Amino acid sequence: MKKVQITETVLRDAQQSLIATRMPYADYEGILSEMDKAGYYSVECWGGATFDSCLRYLNEDPWERLRNLRKNLPNTRLQMLLRGQNLLGYKHYHDDVVEKFIELSIKNGIDVIRIFDALNDFRNIKTALESTKKYANERTIASGCISYTQSPVHTVDKYIEMCKELQSMGFDTICLKDMAGTMTPYEAEHLIKGIKDAVGDMPLILHTHCTTGMAYMTITKAVESGIDVIDCATSCLSGGTSQPSTETMFYAFQQYGMDCGLDEEVINKVNDFFKPLKQKYVDNGTLNPKSLSTDAQALVYKVPGGMLSNMIANLTDMHAMDKFEAALLEIPAVRADLGYPPLVTPLSQMVGNQAVTNVLIGERYKNISKEVKNYIKGEYGIAPAPVSAELVEKVLGADGTPVDCRDEDQKRTGEDFAAAKEALGDLARSEEDIMSYICYPDQTLKFLKDRKAQEENEAVYTIEEM
Ligand code: CO
Repeated sequence: MKKVQITETVLRDAQQSLIATRMPYADYEGILSEMDKAGYYSVECWGGATFDSCLRYLNEDPWERLRNLRKNLPNTRLQMLLRGQNLLGYKHYHDDVVEKFIELSIKNGIDVIRIFDALNDFRNIKTALESTKKYANERTIASGCISYTQSPVHTVDKYIEMCKELQSMGFDTICLKDMAGTMTPYEAEHLIKGIKDAVGDMPLILHTHCTTGMAYMTITKAVESGIDVIDCATSCLSGGTSQPSTETMFYAFQQYGMDCGLDEEVINKVNDFFKPLKQKYVDNGTLNPKSLSTDAQALVYKVPGGMLSNMIANLTDMHAMDKFEAALLEIPAVRADLGYPPLVTPLSQMVGNQAVTNVLIGERYKNISKEVKNYIKGEYGIAPAPVSAELVEKVLGADGTPVDCRDEDQKRTGEDFAAAKEALGDLARSEEDIMSYICYPDQTLKFLKDRKAQEENEAVYTIEEM
């Protein structure tokens, strides 16, 4: 019997897409031991925006969250999403920082590291791959991930070429990451058949979002075309900007005569657990019902779910929701100017913010964000197609030369770590604290100061009690 396995995303992408990653660990701890029995290929539970969100909004130590996940899901592959040289942040870190981050991720419990570069410039995922191989244990899987997008330069042949490159680099699996949910059923068929022919029996994974309503059809074609793993979310937090539903696919696979290895009773229990939580997020406004509906406009705008919900949040904050349609229209225009980057973090934010800025100011590129300037300079890597000459001249000057993001400066040995250690002094208790600070200095400093203050209060309280 042909086997297709399922990665459960509720703890990472589903909640990132639907509730801007605001789910505290305490909310879901109670279901972890049950989830451990479900039979998922993996549980995606860390990386992406979870790290930032822990420190910024939830007053949680992301490393402690990971250790708790490890403890409560001993039999399940724990999966994270990593933005190559950007790690979980928005800039390029030095190679030694990338290596240390991966060492600590594996040490604290991660098994599957799904590594991508927003531009599919694979020079930017090489250090992460090599580090994963260096610190791998018998459970570790290095998954090379392609940011899927549609544009005049993103052809089936181009994707097949990328997959061959990932295979020759030494990745264990390949993932197609359709963050905007714009892959159509027939594109899936052509892509997956083509890729399977090119890479042999290397496991192939499809990650998509229901944003446009295309996902179930696309997955169906993907399964028929030989996909090995698909990403799904427990049904009450599936759909909309999230993934297709785990249970729905389970029942569909049964009719196909396919075994996905899931325990029916367990996956239904998992959903029962999350139902009241979902209601809580709806009631307290964390979950905007807009994120749950189908938006076929994304087929025009190619806007990933997370980007859409962030844009709604930003425009609502600025009382400028009347500019929503205009901002959506500006996105593809900015994207074309920038050489068709896939709209994935951090490029989705950069393109989205630039589009919003262009629309709010009423003049295109009057203000260009620092990040977009750096992108045009070449600091993020090579764009899929040339950037608009007008923009290049505006940013680099008439005869400016772009920078090489993989220059010698990337190869450092411990300076960032030493500087962070010194900056934190006795606030840092571990290498993990120092790494958090390198990734998110302001949020981590606040978090560590709060932690210290809380401990001192608790100490005083204990003495008084005695
Ligand atoms: Co996603």
